[in-house]
Amino acid sequence: MQWFILTLTPMNIDIPNLTAFDAAALDSAFAMLEQQARAAAAAVDGEAAVEAFRLEWLGRKQGRLNEVSGRWLKAAPVEAKKALGQHFNKLKTVVEMLLDEAAGAGPSDAALAAEALDITLPGTRRLTGAEHPITKTLNEITSVFAALGYSVGVGPEVETDFYNFESMNFPPGHPARDTQDTLVIANQDRRPQRDRLLLRTHTSPVQMRTMESQPPPVRIVIPGKVHRNDAADATHSPIFHQVEGLCVDTNITFSDLKGTLDFAMKAFFGSSVKTRFFPSFFPFTEPSADVQISCIFCGGKGCRKCKQSGWIELLGCGMVDPAVFAFAAEKQPAYDSKKISGFAFGMGVERIAMMKYGISEIGKFYAGDMRFLEQFA
Ligand code: PHE
Repeated sequence: MQWFILTLTPMNIDIPNLTAFDAAALDSAFAMLEQQARAAAAAVDGEAAVEAFRLEWLGRKQGRLNEVSGRWLKAAPVEAKKALGQHFNKLKTVVEMLLDEAAGAGPSDAALAAEALDITLPGTRRLTGAEHPITKTLNEITSVFAALGYSVGVGPEVETDFYNFESMNFPPGHPARDTQDTLVIANQDRRPQRDRLLLRTHTSPVQMRTMESQPPPVRIVIPGKVHRNDAADATHSPIFHQVEGLCVDTNITFSDLKGTLDFAMKAFFGSSVKTRFFPSFFPFTEPSADVQISCIFCGGKGCRKCKQSGWIELLGCGMVDPAVFAFAAEKQPAYDSKKISGFAFGMGVERIAMMKYGISEIGKFYAGDMRFLEQFA
């Protein structure tokens, strides 16, 4: 008989046969099973172990409870069956509760600690990006002109000698080239001079690129980065930004230029700002002027910032030189200086941003110091 039982029951099911069925015998037999179930449940760790526990105790065919109901109940004398049934149901309830607890307990303490989430902690704040003060100023300047009907254009930073200089009326060898210390790309001696590459020293070459690509009328602003071989100091950087402007149409006069820039400076710095135009020289404009605005710090009375003059120089401008139109006319004949005229202007963005925000060192823009940059967010 012993042999027979062993073959039917798996090795891990060691339910003994019950020989006595009185109350005391039932109490101790079921108490022992409950104790075993509790010990087994306490050792459960992980999903697989929960399932193993369920199979061992509640499995339909080979579970221990199945074994108990099969053997003990069958062997019990009729008068003990009721009490045994009650014990059995109570044990089953306990085992089911233990299973629920083990399943609900979830991952082990170690696993929990590894991905602990304390919902009472303040959240990680993600910093929202903000415009760099130079980008912000670039956008502010371009949008003043966009409101006047200007479109926005861009051009390459690595430029040819032709666009940067020759077409802007700086002939090869002309001394005006020396005013813009140029960084050139090496090893191009075999190329014709006009094809040699350099880092653009101003955004003016985009005037020519724009005119070559479309006939007049033109109203365009060109924000961008420029490069000069200047030593860095408090107000100079070898890389800086400009906003260029070009307006070409029939009957464009110096008055249009003055009116446009006066409006733009008031829009940008405030309506109380005054402008004045001083004679100047650029190869690509004739006449040329430097634009000064009344000092935004002292209102024109004279202070340290404006060197007691009451005025601050801000940008260069002038009427487009006929020689420049002649270069444009090679590709777009409508740029005939007998029929059309235009003005151009160019301003340094760093200089304007420094004025507007009261920054005394240009290097602050490029240092990447969050304490500085955050102030513009
Ligand atoms: N390109 C000139 C500079 O970089 C500025 C300028 C632009 C002047 C357009 C007149 C007209 O100094």
